[in-house]
Amino acid sequence: MYADIVVGIQHGDEGKGKVTHHLLKSGEYTHCLRFQGGNNAGHTIYHEGKKFVTHSIPAGLFFGVKSIIGSGCVVNVEQFLGELKELEEGGVTTEGLIFIAKNTHVITNEHLDEEEREEKIGTTRRGNGPAYRDKYARTGTQAKDVKELQPYLIDLYEEFHGSERSPIILCEGAQGFGLDIDHGDYPFVTSSHCTVAGALLNSIPPSWVRDVWGVAKIYETYVGSKNFEPPEAVFPRLRELGEEYGATTGRPRQCNWTNMSLVEKASRVNGVTKLVFNKVDILRELGEWNLIIDGEKVNFRAEEELKECIEDRLESSTRIYFSDTPHSI
Ligand code: IMP
Ligand code: MG
Repeated sequence: MYADIVVGIQHGDEGKGKVTHHLLKSGEYTHCLRFQGGNNAGHTIYHEGKKFVTHSIPAGLFFGVKSIIGSGCVVNVEQFLGELKELEEGGVTTEGLIFIAKNTHVITNEHLDEEEREEKIGTTRRGNGPAYRDKYARTGTQAKDVKELQPYLIDLYEEFHGSERSPIILCEGAQGFGLDIDHGDYPFVTSSHCTVAGALLNSIPPSWVRDVWGVAKIYETYVGSKNFEPPEAVFPRLRELGEEYGATTGRPRQCNWTNMSLVEKASRVNGVTKLVFNKVDILRELGEWNLIIDGEKVNFRAEEELKECIEDRLESSTRIYFSDTPHSI
């Protein structure tokens, strides 16, 4: 029994989809589990030459791996069924492979109406906050009580603990540490637990955890209402080079240099064993190497110097990957 967990280290959009896709290629996983969030997420996946943007379904489907939307998630029924249809039309088999935990809560039309004009946080307006609120207020609706979801229901306990075959589970996180309901910059956060703890809530015992894959970008982005991007001309340029526009809402993502305090904190709290920094190629194209360390911008003359600084600041047991292609780590 093993579980590898993929978590976001910054504010979402770090490239977790690419990492889960890469890990699934090993063929060793029996299950792929989305453990929190809803269709506020947007994973951009390049599979067999085609681009797919998924919002709620786990990446395991692309590899014929049994895929589960866990009880830590919230699900929009119509959107879920629509996404399955799109995948089928794109040549991806979903039948018999996609499941939803029976106790997963659903996002209703009332939740969507409520968020229609939301501006305070700058949410994705997908009804996540209201759905989680109702879950905890004990007024929500679980998947098991929704007619259209009957063919997809699964019991996480029976699935992970009740079969002869030992599960090897890839847990796929959404959003990131900087948006986590407890660790993020409240109230500019999402309404779920974006850390490894969130994965464990889905019937995964801590003793099963093998690797924790933290995913960061070599610079930071954030989408939402707060001011995040410093007023420097370099950031609009970075946004263009990195194509930093939301996969779910198309909003421009605000940019900044990587804040090492956040990377260090998120890595420690999650117990990260492998840490991927994506989009190194983009900073190379930009030709500027900076980090935020203890609140101050620190400039590096060259890529290698910045990488060394990052390596020095993280635990020596953490394996660090600097990725400079969209297709592999
Ligand atoms: P909500 O999750 O839609 O409630 O939005 C709360 C905050 O999280 C907003 O700042 C959103 O832009 C942000 N957010 C939610 N999901 C994602 C994501 O997948 N990537 C980046 N930001 C996200
Ligand atoms: Mg995203």
